[in-house]
Amino acid sequence: MRNTIFFLGKGGVGKTTLSSAFALTLARSGKRVLIVSLDPAHNLGDALRCSLNGKPITVEANLDALEVDLPEWVDKYLKESREQLKANYSYDMALNLDSFFGILKYSPGTEEYAVLWAIEDVHCRLAPLYDYVVFDTPPTALSLRFLSLPAISGLWVAELSKLRERILTRRQTIVKLNPSSPVAESCVDKKDDKVYGKLHSIRERLAMLNTLFSKHSFISVIINPDELSIFEALRIKDELTRLNIPLSAICLNKQGVSDAEWHIDPKLSHLPRFTYNFSRDGIKTRDDLVAIGLEPLMAQFLHDKELKR
Ligand SMILES: Nc1ncnc2c1ncn2[C@@H]1O[C@H](COP(=O)(O)OP(=O)(O)OP(=O)(O)O)[C@@H](O)[C@H]1O
Ligand SMILES: [Mg+2]
Repeated sequence: MRNTIFFLGKGGVGKTTLSSAFALTLARSGKRVLIVSLDPAHNLGDALRCSLNGKPITVEANLDALEVDLPEWVDKYLKESREQLKANYSYDMALNLDSFFGILKYSPGTEEYAVLWAIEDVHCRLAPLYDYVVFDTPPTALSLRFLSLPAISGLWVAELSKLRERILTRRQTIVKLNPSSPVAESCVDKKDDKVYGKLHSIRERLAMLNTLFSKHSFISVIINPDELSIFEALRIKDELTRLNIPLSAICLNKQGVSDAEWHIDPKLSHLPRFTYNFSRDGIKTRDDLVAIGLEPLMAQFLHDKELKR
């Protein structure tokens, strides 16, 4: 069942605006909705005209919202990793773990993992309390990285698991040949091996997130009537196709904002498309968000969800 919705697109196309409008429209139709901002530069609270933090806050009847506290998730991810390493390796004292983790905080990929584990937390702990979860995403580069992490890291962890199995098999051979070998003191069976167990649990978590993105998410890409946002939408589509994540709809936002010529690429033209006019009076209130008119997209989403059930 697709009960999670992501709005993707180039910076400034209207991701926060349309995800807020969509969440409000669903909530006002009687569904219980949680909207979550994954953008490190949060402005979901500005769009919804309320002050948000890392915990769900009720915006109005049926609608709660939160802004994921990314620095807190980065710290949590590093702290957990450090504790697991300490618990599993007795020789950690020889390594200077603290300085290692100090560097890791700023290393490429750390923020993407933090976003991923924050999504897992929302999905496992909060989503069961609501009918739908809507994600307001950061601009494309970070979004594509966290969407691709489960598939890519899953392959990597599978290889590490195989390597660990080989190590355990070799240990078993040594112990068989020489039962008094010091290797007999260490773990030889994968069902008792903490490292193998940890790799297995990471694989399961990644597989669950992969299923969430590829089978239970309705992903909509937003474009504006300009070529650059369409080029970006094509890149998003290609990357999602490579990851086996289906794209469900295209939202053309800010129709009428300029007279410049543009055309939709044929690679996107087969997707259901929804158009929203540029509002010259601006979008100042939650009622203005609802007035954008997201009912047809909501109907498509509910129809899609029933089909895929
Ligand atoms: N249909 C519309 N009519 C008028 N203004 C709009 C419309 N859609 C979005 N805007 C305005 O465009 C600006 C950018 O919108 P928004 O913040 O939703 O984009 P975004 O894709 O979330 O940006 P970012 O990539 O920075 O997160 C905002 O000022 C918003 O009010
Ligand atoms: Mg935004």
